[in-house]
Amino acid sequence: MGTESFAAVDVIRTKRDGGRLSDAQIAWVVDAYTNGVVAEEQMSALAMAIFIRGMDAQEIARWTGAMIDSGERLALDVDRPTVDKHSTGGVGDKITLPLAPLVAACGAAVPQLSGRGLGHTGGTLDKLESIPGWRAELSTAEIAAQLNDVGAVVCAATKGLAPADRKLYALRDVTSTVESIPLIASSIMSKKIAEGSAGLVLDVKCGSGAFMKTRDQARALARTLVEIGTAHGVATTALLTDMSTPLGYAVGNAVEVAESVDVLRGGGPADVIALTVALAREMLALAGLSEVDPAAVLASGRAYETWVRMIRAQGGDPEAPLPKPSHIHVFEAGRDGILTTLDAYAVGVAAWRLGAGRARPGDGVQYAAGVLCRAKPGDRVTAGQPLLELHTDTPDAVPSALAALDGGVVISDSDNRPTAGDVVLETIRP
Ligand code: URA
Repeated sequence: MGTESFAAVDVIRTKRDGGRLSDAQIAWVVDAYTNGVVAEEQMSALAMAIFIRGMDAQEIARWTGAMIDSGERLALDVDRPTVDKHSTGGVGDKITLPLAPLVAACGAAVPQLSGRGLGHTGGTLDKLESIPGWRAELSTAEIAAQLNDVGAVVCAATKGLAPADRKLYALRDVTSTVESIPLIASSIMSKKIAEGSAGLVLDVKCGSGAFMKTRDQARALARTLVEIGTAHGVATTALLTDMSTPLGYAVGNAVEVAESVDVLRGGGPADVIALTVALAREMLALAGLSEVDPAAVLASGRAYETWVRMIRAQGGDPEAPLPKPSHIHVFEAGRDGILTTLDAYAVGVAAWRLGAGRARPGDGVQYAAGVLCRAKPGDRVTAGQPLLELHTDTPDAVPSALAALDGGVVISDSDNRPTAGDVVLETIRP
């Protein structure tokens, strides 16, 4: 925490004119903003100056440190190596659900503090809350006890973690300063480092359904995230992964839980299995457990057993039927050919409009809403064949969901996609 004090206008001017902020300026401005001494309009101007001028690696590491210092650090007394995963957010990204119990079944402890969905990307907590009885809010003592007992916890972040980020993120949202690599990276890493895990694997998504639309942008974000983690003593690796089409077949809440359970029981879509195992391998390497083969543990059923214990520990009934929608609209192929585009953003917005996501923080979500894809890019389809099921409890939402899909589903005579490769595109290490 800085003891030196500055005038906010001088800090803003420094960055506006392309200068670099000193460690003391950063410590002061983040602390003063959190405590209401720096006004919202001053932080808006500074955020815009950072957006336009950028920050160097040391400024970003200090900015992240100041946001961590604005709140508490979770002190987890756990007797196994701790390792976490963070995804920058995508469509159908249910990977936390099979991954956390899998990595726990392999011998590490996974404290996964997650968020709720906003906009077209879903939230892990919204998905898990579709399981009857499951509870997202846990105390620090409950998190530590569950980590020691089960090895995996997926729960809501405690309010005291990086409060500066909560305030700044809300401001960025309304001042068009979200898409800045220094601001995104420090926002993500302040929360993850405050969570106290010794290792962190970042799943940086790239493509239409992601924050970062191009590979170059995603790589730049991944490198910045890895640099911040390393500067703060957290063993950090990033995977760049494809988000041009939804992960798996299910997009929504309960439908994604069902697909995750399929993976844990030895079935499920190939891309979800591949990404879960790839991320698990990276996490186990950081936890010093690279001799354990996550694919074998997944096949053995032990990850499913851990899932059952993890859900029960938080009050959920893993055997209870999941919510079903009152209305299903079937979207059919308009012609014969090959499905060459099933656009992640289009499907994500459709699922959101059907009720799976929320427009404003605090809104409710429909647990049964979402999109169930019945084909993947590269599949040969015939006219009239069901391609997508639109699930909702509010059938009035169907026309706007169909409008979101306009242009997002393309059937061609031949498979003209430039790449039809693996879900993992690159690995970035320190
Ligand atoms: N997720 C975050 O936590 N922060 C950002 O700025 C963007 C995505």
